[in-house]
Amino acid sequence: MTNLKLNLKYTGLEEKEMMEYAKQVEQIHKELHDKATDLTDFVGWIELPTNYDKKEFERIKKAANKIQKDSDILLVIGIGGSYLGARAVIESLSNPFQMMEPKKDSKKVQVIYVGNNLNPVYIQDVINLLADRDFSINVISKSGTTTEPAIAFRIFREILENKYDLKEAKKRIYVTTDQIKGALKTLAIEEGYETFVIPDHVGGRYSVLTAVGLLPIAAAGIDIDALMQGAKFAQDKYSDSNLKYNDCYKYAVGRNLLYRENKNIELLISYDPRLHYFIEWWKQLFGESEGKDQKGIFPTGAEFTTDLHSLGQYIQDGRRNLMETVLHIKKYPSDIKIKRDDDNLDGLNYLEGKTVGYVNEKAMEGTIKAHVSGGVPNFVLEIEKLDATAMGHLIYFFELACAVSGKILGVNPFNQPGVETYKTNMFELLEKPGYGKEKEEKKPIKKKTTKRKIEE
Ligand code: PA5
Repeated sequence: MTNLKLNLKYTGLEEKEMMEYAKQVEQIHKELHDKATDLTDFVGWIELPTNYDKKEFERIKKAANKIQKDSDILLVIGIGGSYLGARAVIESLSNPFQMMEPKKDSKKVQVIYVGNNLNPVYIQDVINLLADRDFSINVISKSGTTTEPAIAFRIFREILENKYDLKEAKKRIYVTTDQIKGALKTLAIEEGYETFVIPDHVGGRYSVLTAVGLLPIAAAGIDIDALMQGAKFAQDKYSDSNLKYNDCYKYAVGRNLLYRENKNIELLISYDPRLHYFIEWWKQLFGESEGKDQKGIFPTGAEFTTDLHSLGQYIQDGRRNLMETVLHIKKYPSDIKIKRDDDNLDGLNYLEGKTVGYVNEKAMEGTIKAHVSGGVPNFVLEIEKLDATAMGHLIYFFELACAVSGKILGVNPFNQPGVETYKTNMFELLEKPGYGKEKEEKKPIKKKTTKRKIEE
């Protein structure tokens, strides 16, 4: 089982100041675990690695097998928590170049994501790509009413129905949504699509270990048993309510302590480009969970060494409100030796016999040292190697850390009220029934706020 270790050496934090939070953490631990089975709370993800629907899990594998047999492409339609987790796992464990241009005759199913933006050029590019490929659709939406995936589903369902006969098209559509409610559920029942459930007590961004993530991940050929085992390992490892023995809670406390020292931006750092979408998933998890009530650490990310040549300058020398969390993957599945060159015109012979991975490692060590000396505290998460168990472990680690961290911060880490504002404005502009002029007439007059108006 791939393990994970938190190294606090570069944070400057003292055990003593951390332990001042021990009591609060113990209370939060109890509160979260007590609510884990309560269907009216959003804490169901805590027990998912043990308490998941085993029958549905088998059905997911069966559906994934079918997709692998009859499709070149699986179109995942979803936004936010309804696609980022799957994408994070799939892209972290796949060859990026095979994924860039899915081959018609490839043995592997390529997963393509739509419904996560409203850009017509992107959608048209996907339509073109599908022209001579067999494909299936997994539409994912907990509410079943989100505009972006709903529009994409309408477009791609029609394409699917035109490509295959109606009966066959129905068999190529998999719906992951609420067990009973929502427009998507109604549509699925009406059309007879195979459905998978997003449990009531698991919110979007905490849902990657439900059918939301598992079906696309399994269809991509990744071992979902191993993924769940990694998460289960983490569930056991971080089940101790005592802060002293719980790395996950130490991370949650540590970032709050730094936040109180005005480190209000956290960068998740990777040295592996395949982790790009893992960073995106992490940004969403922490951003939507903690950024509320005018509080919260702004979560962002950087990919090194690439971004050392762009953001690196700011991190080293800019405003001192940053902290970093480094994902240190210790072993690569393969490595490349740097050879000797007799002319040595590039001056690289000093690296003869060393590997690229070794140079990457030294770049990481040098960077941590530089950033710490520049006033940027670093958490380092040491991960033996990147595989499905490690991904399960990381997912659980961050979900739990995020919930505990949000609670320490004093916000509700399971809602996202702020997301509604753009939607309301968009719906008014689009004159969606129930919005726009009709609603405007009924709107109560709002009190003046102290917030600065953009147009002023
Ligand atoms: O974390 C969340 O709850 C959100 O990011 C949702 O996943 C996102 O808004 C998509 O919502 P839905 O699955 O209802 O379409």
